Amino acid sequence: MADLTPLFHPNSVAIVGASNKPDKIGNVIVRNVIDCGFSGKIYPINPKEPKIAGLPCYPSLVEVPDKIDLAIITVPAKACLDVMEDCGKTNIKHVIVITAGFKEVGPEGLELEKKLLFICKKYGIRMVGPNCVGIMDTHTPLNATFAVGFPLQGDIAFISQSGAMLVSIMDWSKTIGLGFSRVFSLGNKADLNEADFINAIADDPLSKVILCYIEDVHNGKHFLEVVSKAARKKPVIILKSGTSQAGAQAASSHTGALAGSDLAYETAFTQAGIVRARTMTELFDLATCFSYQPLPKGDRVAIVTNAGGPGIVASDTIENTGLSMARFEKETLDALRAYLPTEANIYNPVDVIGDAKADRYSFALEAVLKDPYVDSVVVMVCPTAVTDPEAIAEEVIRLHQKYPEKPILTSYIGGVSLAKGAQRLSQAKIPVFTFPEPAIQAIAGMVNYTRRIDSGAEGEAIRFDDVDRNKVKAIFYDVIRDRRSVLLGSEAAAVAEAYKISAAPVRLATSPDEAVNLSLEMGYPVVLKVASPKIMHKTDVGGVKIGLNNEQEVRDAFIEIMENVQRYLPNVIPYGIEISKMMPKGTELIVGMTRDMQFGPLIAFGLGGIYVNLLKDVSFRLARGITHGEIAAMIAETKAATLLRGYRGDKPADMLSIIDMVARAAQLILDFEEISEMDINPVFAYPDGYSALDIKITIEI
Ligand code: ACO
Repeated sequence: MADLTPLFHPNSVAIVGASNKPDKIGNVIVRNVIDCGFSGKIYPINPKEPKIAGLPCYPSLVEVPDKIDLAIITVPAKACLDVMEDCGKTNIKHVIVITAGFKEVGPEGLELEKKLLFICKKYGIRMVGPNCVGIMDTHTPLNATFAVGFPLQGDIAFISQSGAMLVSIMDWSKTIGLGFSRVFSLGNKADLNEADFINAIADDPLSKVILCYIEDVHNGKHFLEVVSKAARKKPVIILKSGTSQAGAQAASSHTGALAGSDLAYETAFTQAGIVRARTMTELFDLATCFSYQPLPKGDRVAIVTNAGGPGIVASDTIENTGLSMARFEKETLDALRAYLPTEANIYNPVDVIGDAKADRYSFALEAVLKDPYVDSVVVMVCPTAVTDPEAIAEEVIRLHQKYPEKPILTSYIGGVSLAKGAQRLSQAKIPVFTFPEPAIQAIAGMVNYTRRIDSGAEGEAIRFDDVDRNKVKAIFYDVIRDRRSVLLGSEAAAVAEAYKISAAPVRLATSPDEAVNLSLEMGYPVVLKVASPKIMHKTDVGGVKIGLNNEQEVRDAFIEIMENVQRYLPNVIPYGIEISKMMPKGTELIVGMTRDMQFGPLIAFGLGGIYVNLLKDVSFRLARGITHGEIAAMIAETKAATLLRGYRGDKPADMLSIIDMVARAAQLILDFEEISEMDINPVFAYPDGYSALDIKITIEI
């Protein structure tokens, strides 16, 4: 991938469209570059001015006598093409285009943007924007934006598809003392996009956390490759907007983004190890916690509080977010019992009660921090007349320094009387919240990230060599030749067989005699079903007969089904009757699929049978790059997993064979893009193997 270092550490910067008029963006940018303390050379470009902000000004880029590492363009849209040509001619390889009026304004703007990109490609220029606020690096330092002021230095890198969001956050961050390392406004992402920047930040030692606000991604596959690698180096926290119908429409008109389905994003983010924030508040709560605190080693949370009610609220949230309440070891309980008043609660949540001063908090906090069965702590303070929030804050800070390996978050539940203590905590990089729920949600985000990265679910992508692609191709060819898109059951079963998905045998009979012969071959009992792509609900038209045990029953059923179809659907001429072996009952599962424009096919797994839509017990994964660990995780997410493990004395199902089936189904939908729908429902899972009973495949012609 491209080396973007000159974007963050240029030796020289030119601002094309620089202005002496203080209300112009071209003036703000020159001043921002100067005021942030940028130590390289600065070249304002304006044909009418001899000097701008006290610096010599040049009429055009071609007249600058020096090498320029970075150009910032802030001239009207139509003038951008010529300026970009000048960049190419003067061998400038990195350009930020602030100017609006491109893709986001409609077809004419899109044309202009394409022309701009074409010039970039011609000269090998890497472009940020157009229609962006610019970029910042607090360590260089460089402020190549028209934001108000410069953020505090810190270790959070922030990438934003919305310029407005970026400038607002930069302004707000100073009020809570939040510091940034690098900040990027993506704009229209005509060239450089979030994946390029995430990649660039992944190896930046001065950035500990990567924070993103995005409305869409352009190349889902590439994005996932980059982010999966980055997430193993440092947390990537993303707020993806446009998840609702209204939000997607707003995103679409905002920067011309076409938001993908949220299910695909959700699945892709989980698989890539991305921490997903649902709200802006959560995005920055997570950023603060990841930046300020170490990662918890596990999910056991301890609470130290001076109030019972909020302690219970915190305990509920711990359980609801999938964390667990720490259970203290005996030494901890003994120490707490010996030191705390008898009215106190020594079990988690530790209630040091309303008259607690800093010394009591300090003792309790140290006791739980020392406990090996505690992974993180939330300290909660409610104001009473005897509470000293600042002294408590000092103790929390002292103990955090003494036990730096365990995260401590705080919840100062109150207002004015707690403000100074809260401020002191924030300065010392102890996350401080008003209410406990967001603190605990942030811990859950950190725990999930650690679990994901440690789980090894990445593993090796599964690929089978023992599948018969040509056989599937031939079946599809016949279906298309027959001017159909829906495969008959017998064809779908043959496709499954070619991919070594164990399906109950299905054969097509065109006469009662043939039906009897096939039944004898398969062995009784058998099931007869009408074969016609035009009949969706076969049972409703009397097109299914199950549990047939002998020749006579098969003959009768064949004729009865044909007569039923003739009566209910006189215009439909069935292809015949499908004979399938009646399989013994097993745990009913479903394997299905859907396709996403950005991320490709998704494979679905869940509880099968006729209540699928009612129970909605289904989990999804991207088919591409799926691993054994990933399939095991997706199964574990469903209630079906409980049945498969052996519910109420049942024997456990053969999990390895189910994982194998899901993996093979994933490969099938990856190998054949023409499969637009596939539903295997039910699959019967047994203690030894499984059997796919009903397979529906639709192809796009
Ligand atoms: N080379 C050098 N200088 C030039 C050139 C050129 N080819 N062409 C024009 N200039 C000069 C102009 O003479 C002018 O200088 P002056 O102030 O001394 O007269 C200066 O460049 C700017 O040109 P103007 O025509 O005055 O344009 P203006 O400053 O009004 O607007 C701008 C330019 C800011 C790029 C505007 O077109 C624009 O796109 N604004 C929106 C920017 C934006 O919102 N970006 C997205 C941010 S994301 C968000 O939502 C916050």
